Amino acid sequence: MPDFQQIINFIRETFKEPKEFIPLHAPVFSGNEKKYLAQCIDSTFVSYVGEFVTRFEEQISKYTGAKYVVATVNGTTALQVSLIVAGLKQSEEVITSPLTFAATANAIVHAGGTPVFVDCEEQTLGLDPFKLEEFLNNNCEVRENSCFNKTSQKRIAACVPVHVFGHPCQIEKIIEICDKWKITVIEDAAESLGSFVGTKHTGTFGKAAILSFNGNKIVTTGGGGMIITDDETFAARAKYLTTTAKKPHPYEFFHTDAGFNFRMPNVNAAVGVAQMENLYLFLENKRKLAMIYKEFFKKAGIPFFKEKQGNTTNYWLNCIFMPDRKTRNVFLEFSNSNNVMARPAWVLMNKLPMYQTTQHFPVAEKIENTLVNIPSSVRISQP
Ligand SMILES: Cc1ncc(COP(=O)(O)O)c(C=O)c1O
Repeated sequence: MPDFQQIINFIRETFKEPKEFIPLHAPVFSGNEKKYLAQCIDSTFVSYVGEFVTRFEEQISKYTGAKYVVATVNGTTALQVSLIVAGLKQSEEVITSPLTFAATANAIVHAGGTPVFVDCEEQTLGLDPFKLEEFLNNNCEVRENSCFNKTSQKRIAACVPVHVFGHPCQIEKIIEICDKWKITVIEDAAESLGSFVGTKHTGTFGKAAILSFNGNKIVTTGGGGMIITDDETFAARAKYLTTTAKKPHPYEFFHTDAGFNFRMPNVNAAVGVAQMENLYLFLENKRKLAMIYKEFFKKAGIPFFKEKQGNTTNYWLNCIFMPDRKTRNVFLEFSNSNNVMARPAWVLMNKLPMYQTTQHFPVAEKIENTLVNIPSSVRISQP
């Protein structure tokens, strides 16, 4: 049994502030957030038209290298709209892995699709490309230039690999397989702003990707999301659908589709612009923390999830592994009752009532049973 008191003492020592409760991931507003918010309010452009939305989109485009970006109210809606624009139709299937936040599967359903789960791999925590290929070989066929599930007779319209806790999945292999099987890839990069495969930012490999700027993410806008893509037509359609599908006109209201009110408000983008100005600082700070943890857990004999060779990870949420579920639960109880927030991996999607299946995903189950997220905030005090 690992020495839990020693772990808690070390985390407390590492996070000198705050003294009482150490959260899992608290936002840091140490830059121009208040200034830009005041400017936004003074301008009266607080909804989805305004200079901060444009500035925030330009920052994300420049940083990720994605040619086109569309800011949305959150990551879930960004994924929903991306899947619709990718051509997902009612009851068609979308492949993803069971080890993800519920929003991934929810967005698939909100877009009219049905999630189909394929196991993940220990190496990256993301969708296993070999199991994906195995699933496709055993269950699917390509006809009419599309992939069909031979059992359900449904088209598999898309695949949504997730970069779990900021760690890049094997996205290049996944894309290669999906290309062969005529499946569109939309990356769930909600957690991976600042993570790269080689020099290419996560989310720039597939047809499109989504980011999240929820309060717990590396960059926050309170609530917010982004669709990123290199496809101009895709981006234009996504922007159109997220702004109620209204034909541009100085005063007439004519809508061509049942569109959405999903555009990010300017007031949220004002916070985002200030946060992006500090992204390099946040990433550097989080990397330092991860290296401190790495050393400590190596000495303590507890596995710590590290960046893979060739990748750069944002270390959004640091992960350690307990020997089994029972030990994990004892640690979670101990840590949280000592005011050091620790969290298990999400309950697997296939175990939730709305997505329940009889299938087993041994690797996802092993990770679910043993993984623990430990405090990972940027250690910069608020002014
Ligand atoms: C993997 C993953 N996908 C999607 C989302 C949805 O993002 P949001 O909370 O901004 O809707 C999140 C985060 O919250 C996430 O962690």
